[in-house]
Amino acid sequence: MKTFLLASGNAHKAEEFKELFSGTISVNAAPRTLEVDETGKTFVENALLKARAYYDTYKVAALADDSGLVVESLPGILGVQSARFAPELAEYSDKCRKLIGLLNQNPLQSRNAYFVCVLCFYLSPDEIYFFEGRVHGQIGSDLRGDKGFGYDPIFIPERAENDGKSLAELPEWKNTFSHRAKAVQSSLEFFKESMDKTHQRP
Ligand code: IMP
Repeated sequence: MKTFLLASGNAHKAEEFKELFSGTISVNAAPRTLEVDETGKTFVENALLKARAYYDTYKVAALADDSGLVVESLPGILGVQSARFAPELAEYSDKCRKLIGLLNQNPLQSRNAYFVCVLCFYLSPDEIYFFEGRVHGQIGSDLRGDKGFGYDPIFIPERAENDGKSLAELPEWKNTFSHRAKAVQSSLEFFKESMDKTHQRP
């Protein structure tokens, strides 16, 4: 089984990866979380910065996740800066309320939003792979649910059964259809195909 060091100290991401990769790829926590300046302008650049930093420090294959929430009517905030939105607020519940407040200032503003996840598998400086996943939805008008993390309680994903449930109320759905789940599924398809090709070589 391929093994990667997780280039993140985010316990919630680690927990989701454990479920998402179960029995396929082994993702281990790093002995120490590194402070990596996320100076990139895109999710891809930031994922690369994190994966490379862990690879350079620990000299083993690393997996980074750069993710965030993009809100259509607020292009200047969140996105790649999602982790740094409203730094004066320590709790994500307060960040969520602040975001709702910004959208409530103008009821005509679009509440369309999507989560993005870019995974960077850094096997060596010559072998780096990226995979992206997205999930579309709307920003709700209050916080709902106590599962998940970050902005999950205010994100209402587009689903066939449109009952207004947030991602924080849909842990099983999230595990299959989230931005992170989709990026993981793409990576698994790719690694499976490349392993199949290797085995087919005469
Ligand atoms: P990163 O560590 O720079 O990738 O920051 C990701 C940011 O997006 C953090 O603020 C997270 O709370 C938020 N985020 C990423 N993925 C999710 C998710 O699955 N649910 C809720 N918030 C998320």
